[in-house]
Amino acid sequence: MEAETTVQDGGARAGGDKKVFVKTYGCQMNVYDSQRMTDALAQEGYAPTQVIEEADLVLLNTCHIREKAAEKVYSELGRIRDLKAARAEAGRETVIGVTGCVAQAEGREIIRRAPAVDLVVGPQTYHRLPDVLARVRGGGKVVETDYAIEDKFAHLPAQKAAQVARRGVTAFLTVQEGCDKFCTFCVVPYTRGSETSRSVAQIVAEAERLAEAGVREVTLLGQNVNAWHGEGPDGSEWGLGRLLFRLAEIPGLARLRYTTSHPRDMDDELIEAHRDLPSLMPYLHLPVQSGSDRILKAMNRRHKAADYLRLIERIRAARADIAMSGDFIVGFPGETDADFEATMEMVRQVGYASAFSFKYSPRPGTPGAEMDGHVDEAVKDERLQRLQALIVEQQHAFTVSMAGRTMSTLIEKPGRRAGQRVGRSPWLQPVIVDEKAGGIGEIIEVRITGTGQNSLFAEPA
Ligand code: 5AD
Ligand code: SF4
Repeated sequence: MEAETTVQDGGARAGGDKKVFVKTYGCQMNVYDSQRMTDALAQEGYAPTQVIEEADLVLLNTCHIREKAAEKVYSELGRIRDLKAARAEAGRETVIGVTGCVAQAEGREIIRRAPAVDLVVGPQTYHRLPDVLARVRGGGKVVETDYAIEDKFAHLPAQKAAQVARRGVTAFLTVQEGCDKFCTFCVVPYTRGSETSRSVAQIVAEAERLAEAGVREVTLLGQNVNAWHGEGPDGSEWGLGRLLFRLAEIPGLARLRYTTSHPRDMDDELIEAHRDLPSLMPYLHLPVQSGSDRILKAMNRRHKAADYLRLIERIRAARADIAMSGDFIVGFPGETDADFEATMEMVRQVGYASAFSFKYSPRPGTPGAEMDGHVDEAVKDERLQRLQALIVEQQHAFTVSMAGRTMSTLIEKPGRRAGQRVGRSPWLQPVIVDEKAGGIGEIIEVRITGTGQNSLFAEPA
C-alpha cells in the first residue's frame, strides 16, 4: 500500500465493439488489478477507453484504507448515475460496477446507497467478472464478495505482449495478497482476506513474459510482500529474498523492487539480497507507523521502536546507499504529546527519503475504532502538520544531496517538454534528460546537473 493514486487505464482501442472505463483508487495493487481486469474484459470484447461518456461499462476500482477514499467513491457514483441517465435517454445502456476494497467491505450496502450500481465485486473474485457481467445483462444486480476458493490468478488471462508494451517499461507484479497481521487500525485483513502467496512458477512465468515484452523494471507487490513464501523448484521453502535472487536471473529484467513490507518479516536472506543483487534497487518502503512503544503495542505491530531502528542499521550495513521510505499515523487512540514526540524523534533518527503520513481514521469493524481515547481532530491536524513539515524537509535534503552524483537511469517516457525524456533514478525520482541521451527502455549512466522539488535534471555521464 502506498499514497493514493488515481490512474486511468486506457489506450489503444483494439477489437471489441463495447468500451470499458476503469478508474483506479488507492494502492499499486489496485493499479495492477485494474490492468488484469481490463485484460480479462478485452477477451469479452470490451476495449479500454479514457472517455467515460463513451463507456458501456464503468468500473470504479476502490480503496477503503481511509475514510475519504470511500466517500470519494460515493460522490463519483453520483456523477456516474447522471451520466447513465443521459446515455439511457440516447438509447444506450451503461453498466456500473464497483470493485476493490470498498466493494468487499460494503457489499450490498453500495447498491442501497447508490442504486444505479449494477455489480459489486471484491478483490478475490475478479476472474468471475465475465460471468458477473453475463448475469447483469440477464437483468438484475450482482454482488460477489466471497473469498473464492479457486486461485483467481490461474483463471485470469495472461497479459499479452502488446498490452504490456502499451503500459511501458516498468510493471507491477502481485506476488502476495492479504494480511494476517491484524494491525488494529487496518481494514486490509478484512478486505483482502488472509495472507496468500502466488507460486514460484506462476511468478517466474509472469516476470519472464513481462521481460519478453520489453519491461525492464518490475515491482513485486503484496500488502505484506516480505511475508511471501513458496515452494521452490528444489522442493525447499523459499522466502522473498530467494525469489528475488531467482528473478534477477531473468534476461532483460534489469531492476527489481518490492512493496510494502512489514518490519517483522525482513529476514536475513532478504537483507542479503539487498547486499548481493545490484538489480535490487536501493529503496525500501518499510512502514513503522509510530515511534512510541506504547502506541506500537496498541496498534498490534508486534515490535518496538528500537527493533525497527536496529533493523534499519542492519539493512544499511548491507547496502550503504539504501534510501528509506515509510508510513506514519498520527492521532491513534490514546496517543499523547509524548507519544507523538517519539514519532518525530524516530523520523529524525531514520532520515527518510520520502514518507507518507496520515491522520488516524477509525475503520468500521477494526479494533482501533472501538478503543478509548480518540484524539481531537484539531490535535491530529496540528501533529500531522508538524510531522509533514519534518518529512518534507528530509525529502528536500535527500533530493538536494543528489546534485553532482552519477547514477543509473531507466528512460521511461517522453517528457512534458518537447525534446525531453523522463527517466527514473534508483531512488524512484523522475530524471529529466535530453531525448538524445537514450531511447525508452534504455538504462543509462547520468550525472545530476540540477534538482527540482522532487525531480532531477541530468546529462549523460
Ligand atoms: N487511518 C489512517 N491511516 C491508515 N493507514 C492504514 N489504515 C489507516 C487508518 N485507519 C495508513 C498506514 C498504512 C498506509 C497504507 O495507510 O500508514 O501503512
Ligand atoms: Fe495493514 Fe498491518 Fe497488514 Fe500492513 S501489515 S496491511 S498495516 S494490517
